[in-house]
Amino acid sequence: MNVTVFGTGYVGLVQAAVLAEAGHRVTCIDIDENKIERLKQGHIPIFEPGLEPLVKRNNESGNLTFSTSAAEGVAHGELIFIAVGTPPDEDGSADLRYVLTVARTIAEHMDGKKYIINKSTVPVGTADKVREEVTRTLQERNALNLEFDVISNPEFLKEGSAVADCMKPDRIIIGTSENASEQKMRQLYAPFNRNHDKVIVMDVRSAELAKYAANCMLATKISFMNEMAVIADRVGADIESVRQGIGSDPRIGYHFIYPGIGYGGSCFPKDVQALKTTATQLGLDPKVLNAVEERNHKQKHYLLEKIIARYGQDLSGKTFALWGLSFKPNTDDMREAPSRVLMENLWEMGAKVRAFDPEAMQECERIYGNRDELQLCGTRDSALSGADALVIATEWQQFKSLDYQTVRGSLSEPVVFDGRNLYHPLDMAEAGFDYYCVGRPQVANNG
Ligand code: UDX
Repeated sequence: MNVTVFGTGYVGLVQAAVLAEAGHRVTCIDIDENKIERLKQGHIPIFEPGLEPLVKRNNESGNLTFSTSAAEGVAHGELIFIAVGTPPDEDGSADLRYVLTVARTIAEHMDGKKYIINKSTVPVGTADKVREEVTRTLQERNALNLEFDVISNPEFLKEGSAVADCMKPDRIIIGTSENASEQKMRQLYAPFNRNHDKVIVMDVRSAELAKYAANCMLATKISFMNEMAVIADRVGADIESVRQGIGSDPRIGYHFIYPGIGYGGSCFPKDVQALKTTATQLGLDPKVLNAVEERNHKQKHYLLEKIIARYGQDLSGKTFALWGLSFKPNTDDMREAPSRVLMENLWEMGAKVRAFDPEAMQECERIYGNRDELQLCGTRDSALSGADALVIATEWQQFKSLDYQTVRGSLSEPVVFDGRNLYHPLDMAEAGFDYYCVGRPQVANNG
């Protein structure tokens, strides 16, 4: 099938590459000339395992092309994805400017039936707004005879496993009330829908809300667990035992109940905020969403509280080694990352930071530039040298085993603040560390 994807961001690029791999002829349109030029040469603007070879292969085979010409894009695709950004507005609602601009562009250039598919995470009611925009533009062109449908087809991919998630989706939600659209979408996704039917068809508003409900549910699980960890800390329980104890109940499950220093990324914080705003604008009082957000905000400061409890508010003269900058492993994305709250507060209190991340160093430099209080170090071990304590913000695989001797030998004192519960408090105490983590009893060290 001929497919066009507007927006070569995360969602758009991954979706386009995966559809091309399945044999569809896909063209990607973006207004950023530089980005399109680089993509044509096989340079991927993001770090995502498996994406680069996929894009290269399909680009070479001709199944995946890139262009800045919207007219070309609209002419090419019978199915047209809108996968442009929806940054949060000042009031927390999603800014639909880019989505509606694409809608208008499609209507300006179309000359036959188009299936317009909303892939960006957009508030309930956006498909109707896209429909209005297209209708208005067609009216201006005196072309109301041209047929189209607006379909909601939310994306559920996770950064770091986006290609795999997209290749093997656990569900394919199709929001439309038109039979023809359902058939087209089923045809499009047939290569990904082989063993059992993953397609769930619903009305467009339910599809839009389903996306928010999914992310908000997951964020709720995390915030709930983080609150349990805070309680565990106070009552002297071990949250890791509690996690296993409750995860074994299939109604709760083991996923997304890992306590830590809060969720980040481009989705959870934005989506919780956007759904809150939608509810509030409707005169509702979204108590659960408010609490989820508040807990997450507090949780990002949780290690800082432990740092302050040990050293006091004035950290001038102190240096902290920081392992992990990205909001989660296997990505270079630092949007809403807990590491940022940590660093910014440590600096505010006078401390310096020596940071290491396997992928996000460039991104960190882009955000914070060159500054005295931040030293970006090439390896995890070099970040330790001369620091007063180690702080861990992201659970990268390579941090999961600790070389006690190196760490003890490099830090001025053997102190570790672990925001991801990577080690066992007993082992750490035995190895002579003062070990602070999230929701696990502290054990006096033997050092
Ligand atoms: C998320 C959703 O998982 C995905 O379905 C949606 O399409 C986009 O948003 P992503 O933002 O890539 O994906 O990251 P995810 O792996 O879900 O992690 C989100 C955050 O939650 C991370 O900061 C992670 O550290 C945190 N998290 C996750 C926890 O703190 N505890 C957990 O148990 C799980």
